[in-house]
Amino acid sequence: MTATSTRIKHEVKDLSLAPLGRQRIEWAGREMPVLKQIRDRFAQEKPFAGIRLVACCHVTTETAHLAIALKAGGADALLIASNPLSTQDDVAACLVADHEIPVFAIKGEDNETYHRHVQTALDHRPNVIIDDGSDVVATLIQERQEQIADLIGTTEETTTGIVRLKAMFKDGVLTFPAMNVNDADTKHFFDNRYGTGQSTLDGIIRATNILLAGKTIVVAGYGWCGKGTALRARGLGGNIIVTEIDPIRAIEAVMDGFRVMPMAEAAPQGDIFITVTGNKHVIRAEHFEVMKDGAIVCNSGHFDIEIDLKSLGATAKEVKEVRNFTQQYQLPNGKSVVVLGEGRLINLAAAEGHPSAVMDMSFANQALACEYLVKNKGKLEPGLHSIPVEVDANIAKLKLQAMGINIDSLTPEQTEYINSWASGT
Ligand code: ADE
Repeated sequence: MTATSTRIKHEVKDLSLAPLGRQRIEWAGREMPVLKQIRDRFAQEKPFAGIRLVACCHVTTETAHLAIALKAGGADALLIASNPLSTQDDVAACLVADHEIPVFAIKGEDNETYHRHVQTALDHRPNVIIDDGSDVVATLIQERQEQIADLIGTTEETTTGIVRLKAMFKDGVLTFPAMNVNDADTKHFFDNRYGTGQSTLDGIIRATNILLAGKTIVVAGYGWCGKGTALRARGLGGNIIVTEIDPIRAIEAVMDGFRVMPMAEAAPQGDIFITVTGNKHVIRAEHFEVMKDGAIVCNSGHFDIEIDLKSLGATAKEVKEVRNFTQQYQLPNGKSVVVLGEGRLINLAAAEGHPSAVMDMSFANQALACEYLVKNKGKLEPGLHSIPVEVDANIAKLKLQAMGINIDSLTPEQTEYINSWASGT
């Protein structure tokens, strides 16, 4: 509902959900000590004083901690959803009611509302954009060229968004700096692998309540998200098939102990299919046609394009909601295909996204990337920039400290050895 009743503009489902959101945000905070330290420092130093900031993220308990940290740092921050199905309505309500952060996000919003919220975000005339999939940046470039002058830079945390930003740079339209949060080691090693791995299976289980042990599970894509998904699916007793288009990743999957084959061969064998490729129509008509009766299909890639639902819908005789986030498509060949979460990110549609402990590091990167952009305003070249290695290493150190884990350090003799080339065998 659009309202100005709490002094700030917002569009959330129901402000009375705020107490539940508050409780859940507090719970997530237990697992986010690194971001907490950054927030405490931001509150002292106010690095974002005078900065208008837009965050286009999944509106979760973890994102709430990021938004609160940015606001503590002085940012005039506005939050929109990065996916129509990923918003946690209680969290959105709490951010508005308790923290006076304008949020425009409702779980289940239609595509038109989603795009309207992207426009609302740009109406804020951001100096910094935290993007998740690059929709805000793409819209800025396509429709609001005149606002680029206001922008210090953007940050991007998804593999999909980074691929898009690279294409923008190649086309000469990325005329401002973009921080590549996704490629920080403290991001993709943990968030993409363990976060996607666990939360994808969590989403499938919450949506279907099926036993995974003994099932043939086809994982399409063996990037970091695919690796984590295959690893965790095997851990639950699944018999895993990986499909890939990249020969190196395919060898990696084979040597990690998985069967590798084209989707056309996997389609008749799988009980459950999970797409995590970042590309479109990885599962399409020719595959649906040969699937087992009742095969379950879902996606954990950023956009809802990996499964060709249009063609499935066009052939289906009937589509029935059989459980929450679970739709059964009845095919003319007498078999059915079950689609979870409308082909959108299953881990956020049917579950709660990546657990807080990994988002702690991802959002520490986001927060520090924003600070880096602002501190280096006017000094960074247009295009993608890595998170500085010392920032990445420091996030890892803080995380280890918070986990109570000590590690070794080099002795003087080892330091000398590692820095010299003179002595070999
Ligand atoms: N992306 C994946 N999981 C997430 C979470 N829990 N919060 C925000 N963004 C996410």
